[in-house]
Amino acid sequence: MPNPSRAALIDRLPKAELHLHIEGSLEPELLFALAERNGVAIPFASVEEVRAAYSFFNLQDFLDIYYQGMSVLLHEQDFYDLTWAYLLRADADNVRHVEIFFDPQGHTERGLAFETVLSGIERALKDGEVQLGISYRLIMCFLRHLSEEEAFATLDQAMPYLDRIHGVGLDSSEVGHPPAKFSRVFARARDLGLHVTAHAGEEGPPEYVHQALDLLEVERIDHGNRALEDAALVSRIADEGLTLTVCPLSNLRLCVIKDIADSPVRRMLDLGLKATINSDDPAYFGGYINANFHAVAEALDLTEAEIVKLAENSFTGSFLPLTDQARHLNEIAEAVHG
Ligand code: ADE
Ligand code: ZN
Repeated sequence: MPNPSRAALIDRLPKAELHLHIEGSLEPELLFALAERNGVAIPFASVEEVRAAYSFFNLQDFLDIYYQGMSVLLHEQDFYDLTWAYLLRADADNVRHVEIFFDPQGHTERGLAFETVLSGIERALKDGEVQLGISYRLIMCFLRHLSEEEAFATLDQAMPYLDRIHGVGLDSSEVGHPPAKFSRVFARARDLGLHVTAHAGEEGPPEYVHQALDLLEVERIDHGNRALEDAALVSRIADEGLTLTVCPLSNLRLCVIKDIADSPVRRMLDLGLKATINSDDPAYFGGYINANFHAVAEALDLTEAEIVKLAENSFTGSFLPLTDQARHLNEIAEAVHG
């Protein structure tokens, strides 16, 4: 049964989104508009056809279409439009802080300049800060299906812009590409003062989560579903207070779970883990952050206290300074009582 007071609480709570691939927010309408504007041929005749193609059996199925979608992004303005469209949706869901992933290798491989990608995304983020009051951090991901050498080359390309990039992440095809493959790149990123996070345990085994912690020294874990299979790992994540960026609708659409009621959020909260709710690639998975909150709140019958905890975790798990986190926690308290 829908619970109206719980739903209203979700809508009015301030939130941070910590797991969002900006390229995964490319809605079919914008895909079409950019294809036309840039003269790029796409294998779809209508928005409806595009949406119908968004049916996936696993992560790789999705990634094939996700990388294909990027082909319409050519100019700085395209990255601006993409990011601005996401920020407007995030604002409507009362997101007050975003930590956005981008995949430079998905673009530089196609001949675009690193700066074109960075500048377009960043210009929109700066406008979002001023016009919408949404603060941001930018996280550059390495594509794990590519080599260590290519990841190092990407980090080299980023060197002139390190004052504009806050962290590095690791994404793309997980199984067969363990975190260990990127130990040395992450060590270099940490030496450069960058924050570090990585996708682990989405499809890959608990061992990959161990590696992300031990070898990459990540500050948080993106997804982390399969960490729950390993009791010692669960204790470690709880003891270290590590944040998990869970993506419920993504898990459902990528067949990581069979039913939204199987979302790991319930077990993570019960085990004292610091779970957060995120949308991952909302244009492909059928919902932005509030849709993800609503789906799990209904399916898992989350209490209002649990929903508030998830919103609090999103700020305390962010890379914001403690003073900013405290300000957002106060705003959450006001939203609860108001
Ligand atoms: N790239 C975009 N979304 C992803 C996901 N959910 N897992 C791995 N790589 C991704
Ligand atoms: Zn992701």
